[in-house]
Amino acid sequence: MLSKVSRNVFMFASKNKAMNKVAKKWGLKLGASQVVAGSTIEAAIATVLELNKKGLVCTLDHLGEFVSSREEALEATEYNMRTLEAIAESGVDSNLSVKLTQLGLDIDDTFCLGNVLRVVEAAKRTNNFVRIDMEDYSHCQKTLEILRELSKFYDNVGTVIQAYLFRSQQDMIDLRGKPLRLVKGAYKELPEVAFQDKKEVDENYFNLIKLHLLNGSYTAIATHDHEIISKVIAFVKEHEISSNQFEFQMLYGFRTDMQLQLVQEGYKMRVYVPFGDDWFGYYMRRLAERPQNVAFAFRGLFSK
Ligand code: FDA
Repeated sequence: MLSKVSRNVFMFASKNKAMNKVAKKWGLKLGASQVVAGSTIEAAIATVLELNKKGLVCTLDHLGEFVSSREEALEATEYNMRTLEAIAESGVDSNLSVKLTQLGLDIDDTFCLGNVLRVVEAAKRTNNFVRIDMEDYSHCQKTLEILRELSKFYDNVGTVIQAYLFRSQQDMIDLRGKPLRLVKGAYKELPEVAFQDKKEVDENYFNLIKLHLLNGSYTAIATHDHEIISKVIAFVKEHEISSNQFEFQMLYGFRTDMQLQLVQEGYKMRVYVPFGDDWFGYYMRRLAERPQNVAFAFRGLFSK
């Protein structure tokens, strides 16, 4: 009951524009620095370098919420392109994750397509890959349509499928052969479109993972759930699926011991490394997912 209340409070906070705006001026507070890798590209690259040294590969995500003007979307586009350049120049092992709302999806679809195309083109030039994060349900169809357009010209782009959505199995069949990140889903969705029961989400999640692996497609399994990870490991062994066909992914600052353990066992582990001063929404979604994460916030309150 308490966790449901706290989940709703954190989800509300994550969508609150005024709170996000104030938090931007604070700098990383409330323990956020444990899960966000600094405010600048330089700080993010330094973090990636440290993770690479431990055998972890990364995906960088420049945080940005509530983009409502063309100027902001163009700025974010340039910033993402600069991040790709910094990755290439520094030689770190990281690709890039982007959110389409940051690149103008709420302003105009064609405008957004033009922006993401520039980012994917910049990635192509630097021999890199762009993952389009999946946002809430209201953006899902448009995101898949934009991916379809991009895929006509580029093979270095993929997206994310959320297991809590009823539509996901069909989407995965349509996206057969495409590199996908599979997740349970981070937003609060209505019962008309999404499973509400955790057990059902977990079941669908494992089914989707099996489906994508069995049809030979590259699969990124993004979860901190040790039970799912154990089941995936047993499944790939049983079906002799090559370790070149999948990777695990976790968020920066979460289950770091398990991240390293999987590397030691010979699996590819990619860490999602968010950075930037627009950290509040991302952090609130993480607190909503797992009330135990509030311990971060409490520790953060008492540190400088
Ligand atoms: P879940 O939260 O269901 O936890 C399952 C169990 O695992 C828990 O009961 C606990 O036992 C254990 N556990 C989990 N976290 C733990 C921790 N920190 N410490 C100890 N035990 C822990 N979502 C989205 O909608 N769109 C997106 O684009 C992405 N992208 C993305 C990228 C990456 C790399 C990750 C890891 C996740 C996402 N997500 C996402 C978020 C995803 O949808 C989901 O909300 C979170 O990962 C939480 O679900 P989990 O599968 O991690 O486990």
